[in-house]
This record gives sequence, C-alpha cells and structure tokens, in this order.
Amino acid sequence: MIHGSHVIVLPFPVQGHLTPMFQFCKRLASKGLTSTLVLVSDKPSPPYKTENNAITVFPIPSGSQEGKDPLQDLDDYIDRVYTSIKKHLPELIQDMKLLENPPRALVYDSTLPWLLDVAHDHGLKGASFYTQPWLVSVIYYHVHKGSFSVPSTKHGPSTLASFPAFPMLSANDLPSYVCESSSYPKILRIVVEQLSNIDRVDILLCNTFDNLEEKLLKWVKSLWPVLNIGPTVPSMYLDKRLSEDKSYGFSLFTAKSTECMEWLNLKKPHSVVYVSFGSLVILKEDQMMELAEGLKQSGCFFLWVVRETEMNKIPKSYVEEIGEKGLFVSWSPQLEVLAHESVGCFLTHCGWNSTLEGLSLGVPMIGMPHWTDQPTNAKFMEDVWKVGVRVKAEADGFVRRDEIVRCVGEVMEGEKGKEMRRNAEKWKVLALEAVSEGGSSDKSIDEFVSMFY
Ligand code: UDX
Repeated sequence: MIHGSHVIVLPFPVQGHLTPMFQFCKRLASKGLTSTLVLVSDKPSPPYKTENNAITVFPIPSGSQEGKDPLQDLDDYIDRVYTSIKKHLPELIQDMKLLENPPRALVYDSTLPWLLDVAHDHGLKGASFYTQPWLVSVIYYHVHKGSFSVPSTKHGPSTLASFPAFPMLSANDLPSYVCESSSYPKILRIVVEQLSNIDRVDILLCNTFDNLEEKLLKWVKSLWPVLNIGPTVPSMYLDKRLSEDKSYGFSLFTAKSTECMEWLNLKKPHSVVYVSFGSLVILKEDQMMELAEGLKQSGCFFLWVVRETEMNKIPKSYVEEIGEKGLFVSWSPQLEVLAHESVGCFLTHCGWNSTLEGLSLGVPMIGMPHWTDQPTNAKFMEDVWKVGVRVKAEADGFVRRDEIVRCVGEVMEGEKGKEMRRNAEKWKVLALEAVSEGGSSDKSIDEFVSMFY
C-alpha cells in the first residue's frame, strides 16, 4: 500500500450507475489503487472489504423504507439520497483522512455535481463520472448554456440538431426530457445541471471509449480534462479466454444464473431474443401485452426479464400458451446471457450500460427507448454503429405488435441482420482493444491511477 493511493467513489444508487462505477473500482484495484465505494443503501450493513481488500464498500443509510421501489416516487427517493449524502459524507471524509492511507480524490456520479465543492472543501480532487455517452452530455451542456433551442415537444415539427460526425438528430432522437420538459421537471434539472460546473471539475471520467465518439471527442477533449475508461464490462465477458476474473458484481447484483443458462444451453446458436428494459423502465400493461403478442407472432424463442412486481401484467394463460418458447425471469445475469451463443438479438430500452454491453459482446439489437438518454443511444445504435434497428412507435409512443415482428424478423433473419452482426463483431473487437493492456481506456485508467500513485 502506498500512502495517498486511495480514492472515494460515490455512485447514485441505481443499477445503471452502481454497476459501471463499481467496475471502475475493480479496474483501479487491478492497478494498485484502493477505493472506498460509498453505497447509499436502504439497509446499510457494516463496511466490508472486497477485491483482496482493495475496495471497501461503505454503506450509508438512504433513509428509505427497506425494499421500497424508488420508482414509486423518484423525486422523494432523490431527495432522500441527497439528504443522506450531505449528512454522512463530510464526516466520513474527515474520518478517512485519519487513515494510514487517506483519500486523495472524490469520484462522484455526474448527477451529483455539488459534490465537487464538498471534495474541494476537504482538499480532495473532484472527478465527475458520466454513465452516459458524450453526445448526450454535450446536448445537456448546450441546453444548460442556452445555446440549443429546446423543442417543446418531440411530436411537433421535427427540429434538427447537428453535432460533429453524427447524422442530424431529430427531436425524436434527443434525450426525452429535453423535448418533454414538463414530464419530469426535477429530472430535467438534474440531468442538465450535471454540466453546470463542468469547467471547474478536475477530471472527467466517462464510461465510453475513444473510438466510439471519435470526432465529437476532439471537441470535448479540447475543452475539458477527459478520460474515457469504458466499456466497464469485465474482460471475462469481452473475451472469454482473457481473464480468470469470476467475481463480476457483488452480492447486491448477482442473479441466479443457472435457470437462464440451462434454458439457453438447450437452444441453437443465435435463436433467442433476449428482452430487458433495465432497472428503471416500467411498461404500461397494454404495451406489455402488445410486446408479448409481437414476440409470440415472431415465432422466435425469447428470454424476457420482467420484474416480479410487473409480472401481473402478463396473463397466466399467455405464459402457459408460450410454454418452452419463452422464459420469464425477474432478473438475469445480463452479461452472461449476452455472451451466450444462443442469443441472436437483444431487445433493449437502450440504457447506456445495456447498449454498451450489447455492442461489446457483438449482439445485434432492437432499440425500444423509453426516456432519458435512451432515444439518443438508440440513434447511435441504429445509424452510427449500424448494429441494430429502432422500433417505430406511434405518435403517442405506443409500439404495435406488427412492428415488433418486423424488427425481430429483420435482425434475426434478414440480410440486414447479418450485416448488423458483422458490424457488431467489429465493435466487439474495438471494445476489447480499448480495455486491453495498452488500449485507449486502459491507458486512461493508468493516467488516472498515476495521479494518485
Ligand atoms: C440508467 C439509464 O437508462 C442509462 O441510460 C444511464 O446512462 C444509466 O442509468 P438503466 O435504465 O438501469 O440505467 O439501464 P442500463 O444503463 O442499461 O443499466 C442496467 C444494468 O443492469 C446493466 O448493466 C445490465 O447488465 C444490468 N441488468 C439488467 C442485469 O444485470 N440483469 C437484468 O436482468 C437487467
């Protein structure tokens, strides 16, 4: 242990932020940097160590009722998380400063920009961690600066926005809050404020890799001290030969893999559609049924992640009728599933982690975006990387069964589908290169580590 080789890492406590930031801690550990992962939790346990003692997980109370679904009242959840961090973090930093190896930096979730001042007040460097692509951050930046006129609705006359090396973005491709500012005013404020103090941040870490957004990055890097460290997908999945690392995730996130794997093992290569909408999307009952009917009509096998609380939207008779054709699970070991050769396509909400995971594992995708950065990620997936299709929704956002059938057919059977798979394979190689020794993201992590080592 080297004095001063320690950082604090603080994700916003939702799956899509916890996972990449925890994986980042693991990469730091592999390079000798210790970290304390501050975990805002409904049920805080005493701190514990993992990764050969290189990561200390330090739970602090969220102030929420144990097991309460944050989605029931997201605004309230956000308030509680903020209050908890403001109450506990300063004291925690003070205590940690007395350690033999005190922290030198606070790596905080970009959605908590006020933590920059907390870091500086305690003499730490502030590193903001982005769990979305640069294109999305740049859009929010322009909205914050007022240099981008926000379309009032995505269904109005198509407003176009242009960014270096990207196809024109229509209102439908922009992050949802940007065009539907009234839908979640608090979240719009949060996502836009991520960029509010970007000019003062000491280090900007992003879960992307240089090749993905090459030209835009030139501009971004000319303005800010950026280090792209992604994809934060463990190398054992990127290249099964590469790593002995069997410790993906920690207890919070591990899913029982046997059921999914046993089911997938019985299927032919590329014959299964894997369906998942991440941890935050809730589909309405009629949309759920329409999707179910579309999957049935496609005739393909499907593995569908449906949260326990949502399963009542699917009638028992449907499940019985589907029989062996479909498997419903409440949570899946997503990386293991995507790396399985039976999976032929990933029907996803295009959360940034899921999008990166599909891309990095070479799986063609069907994008069915819901909110936040997902429409923009879907645009990327379809029109920039050309590794999938995006469903065409009706004017009210509803996606009909015929459209599901069309997209599944196109990706699983059509000539275009084969091309998407070839493209996905190319991106898989580039993703692996980026995180392998000497790759762009690996070097960025080295650069970060060298600041504190
Ligand atoms: C959110 C936003 O949607 C995303 O765009 C943002 O940038 C980060 O936060 P979320 O909606 O939860 O995240 O989706 P996603 O980013 O895809 O993250 C979900 C994570 O959960 C993925 O890493 C995925 O592998 C994992 N997961 C999901 C599982 O391990 N099992 C499952 O069954 C479903």
